[in-house]
Amino acid sequence: MAADDVPVLRSDPLADDIFPLATEGRKLQIVYQCLKLGIFDEIESLGKSETAENIASNLGSTSTSKIAECATLNNGYIIECGVYCLTESSKKYMVSTKPTSMVPRLTAEFEFMFPLFNSLPSVLKRGSDGERYQQFIENETEDGESFTSGTSGAGNNPRGDITTRKPSPADFLAMMNAKLVPIAPAVTQSYDFSGYRTLVDLGGGSGYMAYEFIKVYEKLKAIVFDLPDSIELAVQQQPQNTKSRVEFMSGDFFQDEKLPVCDLMILSHILHNWCDDKIDIILKKVFASINPGGCILLLEKCLNEDKTGPYDAILLDTMMMVICEGRERTFLEYQMLLQQYGFTNVIWREMHGRNCQDVILALKPEENI
Ligand SMILES: C[S@@+](CC[C@H](N)C(=O)[O-])C[C@H]1O[C@@H](n2cnc3c(N)ncnc32)[C@H](O)[C@@H]1O
Repeated sequence: MAADDVPVLRSDPLADDIFPLATEGRKLQIVYQCLKLGIFDEIESLGKSETAENIASNLGSTSTSKIAECATLNNGYIIECGVYCLTESSKKYMVSTKPTSMVPRLTAEFEFMFPLFNSLPSVLKRGSDGERYQQFIENETEDGESFTSGTSGAGNNPRGDITTRKPSPADFLAMMNAKLVPIAPAVTQSYDFSGYRTLVDLGGGSGYMAYEFIKVYEKLKAIVFDLPDSIELAVQQQPQNTKSRVEFMSGDFFQDEKLPVCDLMILSHILHNWCDDKIDIILKKVFASINPGGCILLLEKCLNEDKTGPYDAILLDTMMMVICEGRERTFLEYQMLLQQYGFTNVIWREMHGRNCQDVILALKPEENI
């Protein structure tokens, strides 16, 4: 047969979008295992491009070709050309010792979040479950290890549909920080906050966002308000040089009558955890605690008005469906919600790039009419 007559072989184009559903899952597993194996840390600590032999020997592996294969499959994270070195993205986010590391988030996705999706069928049938999130954040486990005790249908897992290892409180804080690292500089610049003197980060976890704000706004002092367990841990981790400007306060935004008074209140991934009745309790207190002329800053990913996207918001919304009674909302929904409590000038600053939070800002009028 002449070369011109050889037909081009083509798999069914209809399979092109489907095939990666299988292969991408495998790739994610390989990335996860490489993170656990410390390949990224190893390449970074060697401080230069490395051969597969050196990486393997430093990891105590004799299987050089397999290490090379894994590193090659991490193409996009590790640049490969006979030697291996990290991409700029990997250097910043995939090395576990870096303060910017996303490793806690990635490992929590695999170890904790993925198994939670096993409950999707029952959530679709029976609806979401607020108690589940409460157990998650309050560390209420029966065996201290697992989020649930298996498929017995007992205890904390009345539907018996999840078996997953719950992150430790320290891992949970690190996981939350990891998603804030890429957006925090943009958040501090989303508005001119220089007129404000006091900030409260409600449910502020480790205080990461508060630390970012005081770096940029020299006259600002911050209070990080969270449940006692989170606060205890955050205080242990607090950098010495922030102690005069960032205070940690234990409390419960449902139980406490009042919240600390401030000019600027941040609620980062707080409202999306709760149903409307619970949001009502939170926002009434939030509005009362902000000084007239002050500002509320929500960090939530807005759904399109027709709720068909964006992709990252839909994924997050599905996650909320399986872990709690919360959900993502559109900007108009947030606008109406905030106006209902007296906030005005509600604006949405979309966070471009891949992330799970936009900025929504609103003012408390100078004179509360
Ligand atoms: C999804 S995390 C968000 C943490 C942080 N704001 C961020 O964006 O990374 C929710 C936070 O709210 C805190 N939280 C939950 N219920 C609370 C309550 N009743 N009172 C105070 N904080 C609460 C949790 O401990 C956790 O730190």
